[in-house]
Amino acid sequence: MSDRNGGGCSGVAALERLRGHAVGLDVEYPLATGERTKRIYLDTTASALRLQVVQDVLDRYQPYYANTHSLLHFGAKVSTREFAWAHDMVMNFVHADPETHTAFFVGSGTTGGMNRVARTLRDARPERDVVITSVMEHHSNDLPHRKFLGEVVHVPALVERTSLGRVNMDRLREALEEYGDRVNYVAITWVSNVTGIINPVHEIAALAHEKGALVVVDAAAAAAHVPIKMCGNENPAHDIDVLVFSGHKVYAPGSPGVVVTRKDLFAGQDPMEVGGGMVDDVYLNRHMTVQKFPDREEAGTPNITGAIGLAASLYTLDRIGMDVLADEERKLMRYLMDGLRTVPDMMIYAECDFDVCERAGAVSFNLRDLDHAFVAAVLNDYFNISVRNQCFCAHPYVREMITEVLSEAAEDLDEDEIERLADLHRGMVRASLGIYTRREDIDALIAALKTITADRDTYLAHYDRLDSGDYKHKTFDFDHTSVFSVRGEVDAWLEKDPT
Ligand code: ALA
Repeated sequence: MSDRNGGGCSGVAALERLRGHAVGLDVEYPLATGERTKRIYLDTTASALRLQVVQDVLDRYQPYYANTHSLLHFGAKVSTREFAWAHDMVMNFVHADPETHTAFFVGSGTTGGMNRVARTLRDARPERDVVITSVMEHHSNDLPHRKFLGEVVHVPALVERTSLGRVNMDRLREALEEYGDRVNYVAITWVSNVTGIINPVHEIAALAHEKGALVVVDAAAAAAHVPIKMCGNENPAHDIDVLVFSGHKVYAPGSPGVVVTRKDLFAGQDPMEVGGGMVDDVYLNRHMTVQKFPDREEAGTPNITGAIGLAASLYTLDRIGMDVLADEERKLMRYLMDGLRTVPDMMIYAECDFDVCERAGAVSFNLRDLDHAFVAAVLNDYFNISVRNQCFCAHPYVREMITEVLSEAAEDLDEDEIERLADLHRGMVRASLGIYTRREDIDALIAALKTITADRDTYLAHYDRLDSGDYKHKTFDFDHTSVFSVRGEVDAWLEKDPT
């Protein structure tokens, strides 16, 4: 295991040092007010800003970059060894046992990983054709199972009362009973990318294991927010079989997906992807697959820089200590929720009582009578606050929460009013937090939301609603090439005086 909190600098001190240094933290944009201000980034759940330390490490690495399929020259040795270390770092970070588990990198983030896992587990356990998942899932932890397995069952996310919260354990138990030996695996998100609600994945693992099912965990929104212990839990039934996440959610550049899995689940079969790097030998009529992990799962030249960046970030988070980070974020989430509750007309989705459902990193909401796209546009154009809106690649979950809130409101409203609200609230606004988020950022969000609700008519008069559902300011136009364009940068470089 790595030297947690090592290096002579306490976790809290390291956190304090790091949080002011992320790429893009100080970026400025021109606003509809005519001012130019520093952007406030509250969209970490979509993609986290990369840590400056990670960027600096990658800049230092680039001169030594070489293909890991080359072996004997100096650059190849640097790359090969650091790429191997990246795998070890992932394993350390999630507390996976190298005897039983392996980690490998795939393309296109968590989605790439989940597609690979679904196809592999289908073939590894063909007699088990059912996947149990939940309504809370991101599409990446739902559609691959629908595509590759026979049947997908969605367990509701209900806690006490009627409130939508985390995965309902009774319903999960019932589904496991009902489908019995047909259940291949339970695919569950650790932290919802929409509400930040944390699921009890270890208890879910125990329920699944009791019935001979596996547990596959989507850790995309969890990996940078909660401590992960895949193996060595006091109760071995709590251990996790497969876990998937992605670099861009953990403060690293790009989206190398990473799968950490029990080796035996992949070992018996032909790897799903074939090509260079995963073969011992190839003849015109046959080939011999490397049996060693992770090589056999990494066909082609891997995203070496992406993997090293991801591992650099995990090492950094590990140096701070995930317990320290989770603790800091817990306080910040409470501060955010308390602040949101003071905004008039605020509708926060899903269970808000932290004693019932703990949350990490994200919260989604609407302002009554205002379109989520309008609120997100005004936050950007007038306040330089970046949030995401719409359905966050989790359409069933978002739809369910909106329906719940509207049906609660139905007692006080007539049908036309309900219909109007349903039209406005086809999506939500999401604020999400990262290591660099400070209370001042949250204060700015709350103040902006209060101004928007108070002056809604003034702001509405400045916007046209487009057919796409987006809102366009009538007079303010942000020309992105005024801050960056690839062509502009290349042209400027070529025109620079070489002396
Ligand atoms: N699916 C990512 C999100 O949650 C992009 O925003």
